[in-house]
Amino acid sequence: MLEAILLVGGKGTRLRPLTLTCAKPMIPTAGVPFLTHQLARAAAAGVEHVVLATSYRAETFSAHFGDGSQLGLRISYVTETEPLGTGGGIRNVAGLLESGPDDPVVIFNGDVLSGHDIGAQLALHREHDADVTLHLTEVDDPRAFGCVPLDDDGRVLEFLEKTPDPPTNRINAGCYVFRRSVIDAIPAGKVVSVERETFPGLLEAGAPVYGYVERAYWLDLGTPEAFVKGSRDLVLGTIASTALPGPVGERLVLEGAHVAADAQVTGGSTVGAGATVGAGAVVDGSVLLDGAVVEDGAVVRSSVVGAGAAVGRETVLDGVVVGEAARIGAHNELLAGARVWAGAELPEKAVRFSSDAS
Ligand code: GTP
Repeated sequence: MLEAILLVGGKGTRLRPLTLTCAKPMIPTAGVPFLTHQLARAAAAGVEHVVLATSYRAETFSAHFGDGSQLGLRISYVTETEPLGTGGGIRNVAGLLESGPDDPVVIFNGDVLSGHDIGAQLALHREHDADVTLHLTEVDDPRAFGCVPLDDDGRVLEFLEKTPDPPTNRINAGCYVFRRSVIDAIPAGKVVSVERETFPGLLEAGAPVYGYVERAYWLDLGTPEAFVKGSRDLVLGTIASTALPGPVGERLVLEGAHVAADAQVTGGSTVGAGATVGAGAVVDGSVLLDGAVVEDGAVVRSSVVGAGAAVGRETVLDGVVVGEAARIGAHNELLAGARVWAGAELPEKAVRFSSDAS
């Protein structure tokens, strides 16, 4: 029986205000909580038992996924009262694993969308009888990441911090296969970083740690820009997911939503359940969460509009995150990076970034 651990305990500070009321992996992404796409991928790879390592907003996970049977999985939950970091979170769920000491356990970072072949990663792990096998992806510009050089046999040589002159473009993609006994050997009950402590410690001890290199679709959904991109890639089918609640296409319109006949909803946008898009409005490459309202003539591009939030008439949003139940009045213009806090109210014509704006 194959088991997996999903790390979902982070506070998701970079995605505030959306993560003030909702854990990051529970934010609807292409119509379902992001975690659903990962759980579907795990099930497709043959995983039968998943342990969710929760901390922040822990109760929301079990309330939604229950015992996991709807996804063909058995899901168990463990909650850290104090966040233990990635390594501490993995160690903290060890008691619920049923695998034997040498069995492989798959570990997923809870905010990565990856199309890589988990079965091939497992096969490589078994072939080398490794302690840990990491999925490594290749990026065009590795300077923003810690990188992971390998020897000719695929064995990890080093875990390097960010550097202006990286020796390889291979980076840790956040999906690991661990030998079960290696999980048990992580010190219990304390904060541990798997990236900064566990992996370098294994190398120092001469343990067999291997890299599985595959440049498949890969995206870390930690920032608002990446979150919007991940959602639209799922809707457009750039990355396949069996959890998508509708056909692949330009838009995903959920039950009870209303889109005016002359509104344009394009670019992999999602219109949440009960949301409304008014006459002549444009919604492009964006996520409207349940009950959101985009009034007549408004333009929403590359943005997230929180549940129950309203975007007033003729208002333009581009690269913006609007928190739950916020209200933006008519004739505003908010651009890249702007965040409107949950419940905030912005009067009409309050903000305009045109060339003559002060
Ligand atoms: P930011 O605050 O925006 O950096 O997000 P984050 O808190 O999710 O941190 P980060 O993206 O670095 O976390 C990577 C993964 O590890 C995510 O899936 C987190 O949910 C998870 N994670 C981070 N810290 C913890 C922790 O203390 N416990 C558990 N169980 N998971 C964690």
